[in-house]
Amino acid sequence: MLKVCVIGMGNIGNIHARVYSEYDKVRLAGVCDIIPERAERAGKKFGVPYYFDAEEMLREIKPDICSVTTGGFEYSSDHFLPTIQALNAGCHVLCEKPICNDLEKAQIMVDTAKKLNRCFGINLNHRFTPAARLVKQWQNEGKIGNLLFINMALWIGRFEPHFDSEYYHLKALNPHSVDIMRYFGGDIDTVHCFAMKAPGRDIWSTASINVKFKNGAVGHLTSSYDIKRGHPMERCEIAGTKGRAVLEDMWREAVLYPADSFVKKVYTNPIFGGFTEFYDTFRDRIIHFVDQVARGDRPEDIDGSGEQGLEASRVIHAAIESLKTGLPVKVETIKK
Ligand SMILES: NC(=O)c1ccc[n+]([C@@H]2O[C@H](COP(=O)([O-])OP(=O)(O)OC[C@H]3O[C@@H](n4cnc5c(N)ncnc54)[C@H](O)[C@@H]3O)[C@@H](O)[C@H]2O)c1
Repeated sequence: MLKVCVIGMGNIGNIHARVYSEYDKVRLAGVCDIIPERAERAGKKFGVPYYFDAEEMLREIKPDICSVTTGGFEYSSDHFLPTIQALNAGCHVLCEKPICNDLEKAQIMVDTAKKLNRCFGINLNHRFTPAARLVKQWQNEGKIGNLLFINMALWIGRFEPHFDSEYYHLKALNPHSVDIMRYFGGDIDTVHCFAMKAPGRDIWSTASINVKFKNGAVGHLTSSYDIKRGHPMERCEIAGTKGRAVLEDMWREAVLYPADSFVKKVYTNPIFGGFTEFYDTFRDRIIHFVDQVARGDRPEDIDGSGEQGLEASRVIHAAIESLKTGLPVKVETIKK
């Protein structure tokens, strides 16, 4: 059985630990946090040894898989060190999104995993749902045809009085939305971003990003931290020459509108056996990573890989550059 550890025991680390502790293909073997109370609380909750130092845990437990669920500046600066430590200790690593707020460090994370031949995934959990897979299947079966446009929107409410960076919303939320756009549309060539600081805000809290894909299709992303929850938060529309698919709220509903028929096809999340809450996206994504590692899949075949996480963040950094300059920005020119 595969041994698993989790580094960073905030809310999200506890979710990863819960998924592992409920999955019979792995054994949660240890948890770690530099804040002793967090490590101890999680260790006692899951009945596993707890550590305050990641190197010590990795040395003693020698896990096969390690989740990195730290946060830091722009919700991601603390991912770099434990990811490198875990890869060097021989682990396959599943790291939270964004891969890292610093693209040069993110590139080192990807390169290190490649050099050591370890599987490296990012928790791009929003597309790890049956509904998203079905839309992908429709696309692979040719039911959408040649891609024309993708309209993506992701909006949540985060109203903390202070964020550590004015780009926090753009960088921390949009790895998900950009990844979904890339999942259905492929690599993004150019972006042009407009954004606003909503009343009372000192961050760019609502954004509108125009996109040109490398394959020639166009797209748009609306993202916001300014919408109170309690109703849908995500929508993706993928249109092609043969049909148009709409994915509502990640797992709730997927609709296919064929171009040659007035009859649409609808998938609705089942009440029995379907997803019931956001936690299920974590479970699906984490189990998928474990299964790929357990099957011996090649690192380059990891779904939601470090490389994909890095490319999503590169698109966001290009959007930020566009916001600063007022000009469209080519994604491949962005290295930092
Ligand atoms: N996938 C999703 O849907 C989703 C949702 C929310 C947050 N996240 C991501 O999850 C991550 C964690 O979020 P959170 O809210 O739990 O953050 P958090 O700040 O509450 O917890 C992170 C923990 O990591 C610990 N830590 C930092 N460096 C460490 C190190 N070197 N060794 C051991 N522990 C260390 C901190 O002490 C802290 O307790 C963030 O990167 C965030 O972007 C993902």
